[in-house]
Amino acid sequence: MAARGRMIAATFVVCSLILPLVSSASKTTTPYPNVVNSPSDDLKQNTEHQTRLLLDNESSDENANEIEANGDVSEAEPVENAPQGLIEGFYQKHCPRAEQIVTELLMKTLQRDHTLGPSIVRLFTHDCLVKGCDASILLENTPEGQFKVEKNSAINKPFIRGYEVIYEMKAQLEAECPGIVSCADILAFANRDALVHAGVPTYKVAAGRRDGLSSLATNVMNNVPLLNTPAQGIIEIFDRKGLTLEDMIVLDGAHSIGRAHCVNVIPRISDESKCREMDPSYVDHLRSICANINNTVPLDPVTPNKMDVRIYDEFLINRAVLPPDDALAKDSNSNAIMKKLAGDQEGWLAKFVTAVIKMGEIEVLTGDKGEIRKDCRAVN
Ligand code: HEM
Repeated sequence: MAARGRMIAATFVVCSLILPLVSSASKTTTPYPNVVNSPSDDLKQNTEHQTRLLLDNESSDENANEIEANGDVSEAEPVENAPQGLIEGFYQKHCPRAEQIVTELLMKTLQRDHTLGPSIVRLFTHDCLVKGCDASILLENTPEGQFKVEKNSAINKPFIRGYEVIYEMKAQLEAECPGIVSCADILAFANRDALVHAGVPTYKVAAGRRDGLSSLATNVMNNVPLLNTPAQGIIEIFDRKGLTLEDMIVLDGAHSIGRAHCVNVIPRISDESKCREMDPSYVDHLRSICANINNTVPLDPVTPNKMDVRIYDEFLINRAVLPPDDALAKDSNSNAIMKKLAGDQEGWLAKFVTAVIKMGEIEVLTGDKGEIRKDCRAVN
């Protein structure tokens, strides 16, 4: 499958204002499972997905002929012969174990710390929404200066983790096949694997993305919705990226996994006017966890490690942890889509795969654009 990147740029971001601790919180008892920073049983259900993932990666040779005809965009072929779109099995000829190496390293990492999976999903999303899926979020040094890169923006720096795993994947791939596999593709493979680990059916990732040459923190704030961005603002941001309202609501279901830092939750739960409509017992629950501002709160209190549609139920009954999810649940068009998705796990997963593939095609650099970085931290 081939697809040109769309000319867009934008995002959703996380407002992170540090507000005072909620003083009454620690007194509260809660009916919700205590899953803060702790593994959950639904993690075990994913073994089958992991096995399938490894098998799929080992045998993804469907487009090997097409690649041979087109040539690779590495030093093995002149760059002017490079294919212009994304292609499944892109590395089959020049780095056949590329996806397998990514998968194996990710699985090993998630065994050690499963919370890195959702963070990698967020890492990929924040890369794609800001200047396209070009691994600009991974850069630590550019000619513009190391303190101004996307990675160091207020939205990314305190919250997104998982960079080291990606850097390590790249190091292993450079040892295996130097100058061939882009950081942007590594991120796309790792995102897929993290999603599969959380229960999304596996899917082929068309590759051939090349790495961007610049990274500016200022682009992040302009392209990612903030915690206080209204529903219409979020819709417009995704629309500028070529993602429809339904795509966005489907993707927002990724808040079925992962965690929010209390610093992002406290502004709402410590202000009665902002949480008046929230389920009061849930507010108490969040306050008790966030009595310690360094804690994190699962975005889905019941199945925090499993991608499932029950998160829409949470949004619809006033138990969204994040204000933007609440704002979307109260927007009439978004609300109708959430209600439709809520009871349809299989349908949502299928739509999620389509939407995440679409997101992975935003403004990609292919052909002779960009470069294949030697180290994901820096331009060559
Ligand atoms: C609709 C606009 C969105 C907004 C405003 C938003 C905002 C946020 C915020 C504030 C957090 C908590 C960060 C923290 O405190 O550490 C978060 C977490 C997360 N978001 Fe979103 N998000 C949006 C859409 C998406 C999309 C489209 C995806 C992926 C397809 C996604 C995936 C995630 C994941 C997986 C986490 C958990 C991260 C972790 O556990 O480290 N979000 N998001």
